[in-house]
Amino acid sequence: MMRYTRIIGTGGYLPKRVVTNIDISQTVDTSDAWIYERTGIRSRRVAGSDETASSMGEIAARQAIETAGIEAEEIDLIIVATGTPDRIYPSTGCLLQQRLNIQNCVAFDIQAACSGSVFALSIADQYIKSGAADKVLVVGSEICSRVVDWTDRGTCILFGDGAGAVLLEASGQAGILSTHIHSDGGYEDLLYLPNPQSAAKANRDESGYINMRGNEVFKVAVNTLGRIVDETLAANNMQQSEVDWLVPHQANTRIIAATAKKLKMSMDNVILTLETQGNTSSASVLLALNEGIRDGRIQRGHVVLMEAFGAGFTWGSALIKY
Ligand code: UT7
Repeated sequence: MMRYTRIIGTGGYLPKRVVTNIDISQTVDTSDAWIYERTGIRSRRVAGSDETASSMGEIAARQAIETAGIEAEEIDLIIVATGTPDRIYPSTGCLLQQRLNIQNCVAFDIQAACSGSVFALSIADQYIKSGAADKVLVVGSEICSRVVDWTDRGTCILFGDGAGAVLLEASGQAGILSTHIHSDGGYEDLLYLPNPQSAAKANRDESGYINMRGNEVFKVAVNTLGRIVDETLAANNMQQSEVDWLVPHQANTRIIAATAKKLKMSMDNVILTLETQGNTSSASVLLALNEGIRDGRIQRGHVVLMEAFGAGFTWGSALIKY
């Protein structure tokens, strides 16, 4: 029997504190109108000082587990995508395993910046299809607010905090139809988050903040995501019209609109969260998926295209029959 990867539960968590564009415009030279027009963002959530990627991930994961109606101990593998781990090690995956009190499973983190959750879905799919795992928990959790320079108007307006989770199970029924992941390390300088400790040791004067050449990233993102749409549809012999929902990484409405156009899709079929969440990096696709499923827009049998683009560059997609 063919083994497929099916979604059996999703979850999400957003910290309480809301920071609006107007709040940001009190301290840096920007305006609500500029930010909304250029990005589609009005506000974002910012984690409290007691929160971490693992604490937020735990809340999202517990919601996914509860929705799936399974016991946490049934999980074979935990993959956490994060660029803002609690500690470099132990992995946030291990910390989450401990929080969920699971004795017998494997847990690790993957690092693919904003593409992290799509990369993690792809890895999970390989484990399940090969028979190496039956139930996999994928979590994307980020505290971007701690790694943005709140005096840099080019980046501080974009990012937000949150966690998304999806529980996957082996099934005879599709499932994930295909995943496609790519990277090109040649673009390091356009978008990076230094590790200040190792930079100092190597005598590099780098801050601990996200560095981005936004406009250049924007152009590559639009082109690359257009290509990933073609690649995904071709691999499945599908037409644009067969895709019911686009669940994109939430970096910029203008980037998302370009991808929707490539799919000849109305924005009504796009799950958009960035107006109130900003870019939550590796959490954004899973948060959007959770929202679309919970509010009933994404129904069983619908075809959903998830995609993401991030530092590296990294990019990828997952086509799913929900
Ligand atoms: O998730 C990972 C991948 N990341 C992305 O995909 C982000 C991609 N990039 C973007 O979303 C956009 O490039 C930004 C939203 C970051 C910037 O928008 P843009 O349309 O590319 O603007 P720009 O960087 O070309 O800047 C245009 C002007 C500049 O002024 P001058 O030089 O024309 O006088 C900037 O200084 O806008 C200015 N500017 C701002 N003005 C008000 C830049 N940031 C701001 C700001 N408020 N926050």
